[in-house]
Parts: sequence; C-alpha cells; structure tokens
Amino acid sequence: MPQPVMERAEPRSVGGIEVEVMQFDRPFEPTDELDPEYRDLVLRLLRVQADLESYLLFEDYLHPLLMTAPTPSEKMRYAQLYAEEFNHAYQFWKMLADLGVVLAKDDFAHRSSQYVFSDGYVIGTQDWTEVAVINTLTDRVGVYELAEWKTSSYGPMRRVAPQQVQDEKGHTALGYQNLKKICATSEGKERANALLVKWWPAALDMFGRSDSKRQWSYIKWGLRSETNGELRQRYIAETRPLLENIGLDVPDDSANRHFL
Ligand SMILES: [Fe+2]
Ligand SMILES: [Fe+2]
Repeated sequence: MPQPVMERAEPRSVGGIEVEVMQFDRPFEPTDELDPEYRDLVLRLLRVQADLESYLLFEDYLHPLLMTAPTPSEKMRYAQLYAEEFNHAYQFWKMLADLGVVLAKDDFAHRSSQYVFSDGYVIGTQDWTEVAVINTLTDRVGVYELAEWKTSSYGPMRRVAPQQVQDEKGHTALGYQNLKKICATSEGKERANALLVKWWPAALDMFGRSDSKRQWSYIKWGLRSETNGELRQRYIAETRPLLENIGLDVPDDSANRHFL
C-alpha cells in the first residue's frame, strides 16, 4: 500500500497560539513507514492508556473492587465492566506490540502516586462508595479522551475508539447510578463528599497540563483535535452539575491539583 499522502491544512488558533496541522489521505497503519516523531507520539499516547488499563494484564486490581459490590445484581454488572476493561487492556497492549513494544510486568515498575491506578488511588480502594466515585469520575475522563481517537490519523486507534467510548459511557453511567443510590442516606453522602476531595482533583489531573507542549504535536499530526485544557473545561461543565444534582459538594477546581 502506498504511504499516506500528507499536506498542510489550515493552521488552528488556540488561545492566541497558531498551531500547525497536517492532513492525510488515509490513516496511518503500523505497517507504514512512520515518521520517527509520529511514531514516538503514537507510542506515548498508547503508553498513557496502557498505564491506566494494560496494567490489568499483570496485576488484578479490579477483583477487590468487584468483591465490594453489595448485591448480586451489582456484582453481575460490575463483572461485565471488569471484562470490558480487560478487553481494553489487551487492545492497548496489542497496539503497542504491533509497533514492537511488548509490555511486561516490569514496565509498570515506575508507577508512582501521580498515576490514578497506583497505590493510594485505585489500588487500596476499600468500599463500594469509592468504586462508585471512581467509575463516575475517571471512566468519564476516558469518554472524553477516547472520543478524540474516533478521528485519529492512526488507524488502529480509530478502530477501537467507538466501542471503547461506548463501554466507558456505560461505566460512568453505572457509577453514577450507584452513587445516586448511596447519596440517598446522609452517611452515604458524607462518605462520598470525603472521597471527592481526593477524586475530583485526580480526575481533573488525568487530562494533563494545560500548557503541555506535546499537545500541539498531537494536534499537528492529527492524533488529537482538542487541547488538554479544552477537554478538561468541557468535562467540568458537564460533571460538576451531575454531582451537585445528587447533593454532593464538589471541591474547587484548583484544589489539590498536581497538573494545572
Ligand atoms: Fe477502559
Ligand atoms: Fe471503564
């Protein structure tokens, strides 16, 4: 197959900065000769998602969460979510492997507290209320990030995006339904409010720094279309009212943040 034909498109202006944008006559495939900068960006994007999910192939952090589900029907529905996350885990692992990067358990050894799926965050989760908060907030971040992949210039990302977005929409809806039920009691609401102090900033941090230099390269190469800050602002505008509607106190958007 001939290489994709690249040409310069209209530059995009974001916050006063003019961003170079390329367009292509077809998406890139792993079998194409990839520009080294492009290949590096694809690997970085995949590695971020793999850190959230492919770690599941080596460490089963979801099983303890499944066991906190209080009723048979909630366990059954969570088990479906669990299977869907395993499928995502494998898809990210496979996309990296097709580019020659075969992740093994040791590749996750660098994990630190800034990663949402590390000690102190998902691992170490004790109760069903925290599971509901995690699914409501972090799976919703996935909806925003993966929706960007639907128009990606990288073919394999484009192909997995529609189903993954659908799955993550289901996970966040399930989390919200569980959280709403929990917030019907004052003790439940109190526990959920305490958890938001940790999870609201963690979810906002997941979008990355607003002044990240790399986001312009992603946009230039057609791997993303919105900036970290734009995605985060849309997320806040949609999610804050949902939480407030069930009586929760949402922390200030700048409190306890690592990446602004
Ligand atoms: Fe997922
Ligand atoms: Fe999910």
